[in-house]
Amino acid sequence: MRKKRILKPDGRYLILYEFGEAEPSAAVGSDTGLAYNRPEPETTPTDGSNVMRTPIIAGNWKMYKTVDESVALVKAMRSALEAIGGIETVVCPPFLSLPHVAEALRGSTIGVGAQDMFWKDEGAYTGEVSPVMLRPYCRYVILGHSERRQHFGETDETVNLKVKAALAHGLVPIVCVGENLAQNEAGQTQEVVEAQVRGALAGLTAEQVAGIVIAYEPVWAIGTGKPATGEGANATIKTAVRQTVAHLFGESVAERVRVQYGGSVKPGNIAEFMSQPDIDGALVGGASLKAEDFVEIVKLSAQAKGLAR
Ligand code: PGA
Repeated sequence: MRKKRILKPDGRYLILYEFGEAEPSAAVGSDTGLAYNRPEPETTPTDGSNVMRTPIIAGNWKMYKTVDESVALVKAMRSALEAIGGIETVVCPPFLSLPHVAEALRGSTIGVGAQDMFWKDEGAYTGEVSPVMLRPYCRYVILGHSERRQHFGETDETVNLKVKAALAHGLVPIVCVGENLAQNEAGQTQEVVEAQVRGALAGLTAEQVAGIVIAYEPVWAIGTGKPATGEGANATIKTAVRQTVAHLFGESVAERVRVQYGGSVKPGNIAEFMSQPDIDGALVGGASLKAEDFVEIVKLSAQAKGLAR
């Protein structure tokens, strides 16, 4: 990792961390600089619509993999993932593994993300990890995952604080939303997901929203082996996610924001999701822990979007 100090006009230093050949992108509003990151891929419309969204597949490793196991897993996937064109890929290992995984991915096109963070830069918050600490190693951060909402008391308000803090430090939030089984069975999916989208994005600018990633993850589909259907997930993404974004931030933002599906994604069902027009990628839990499966998911995604080389 190389460190570059740039003197800013206000007399403060901007510190840029560079890993290998990866191009540092602009450190947005942060003095702590940026890290390993590739710039956003060029997006050119090909289908007559205004925007082509680069698909993004992220692996959420949850509380799995020691540091050694994490490094072994990325080493097992790296070259196969890099050989697949057109899809942005991200791995989100546990906090402890982040610097090691970032180092193992030096110069790679594969992005690194954290699974959560606190919204303050520093302070007396025992056990928490701040955006400043993550920034040298990560481009992405998963926020508002249903497991955080369920087991650790996250609310739309805390998710919103975290989203704002992530953006202020140049991290791209992957914001998770999704209804639970009871809400689904009670026919409340639309209102629940819409409220979560509104809550998470409150107070953001249109430009900020256009650059984030939203993951629609019905809670009943996570880790259950019972995924939503492609059509069902697409319908919710279209009406509860994109239309809410359109309403709040305008049509063009809704067309640009990338929305993933998550919940029991496997090589055997990824094509069903990726062939849907409003689904731009997947947040993959269990199947991202096996190199072979994750690579296969990314490969099949490229094929489904007509991007395979
Ligand atoms: P799963 O998890 O793929 O194991 O269902 C998805 C997630 O929680 O992001």
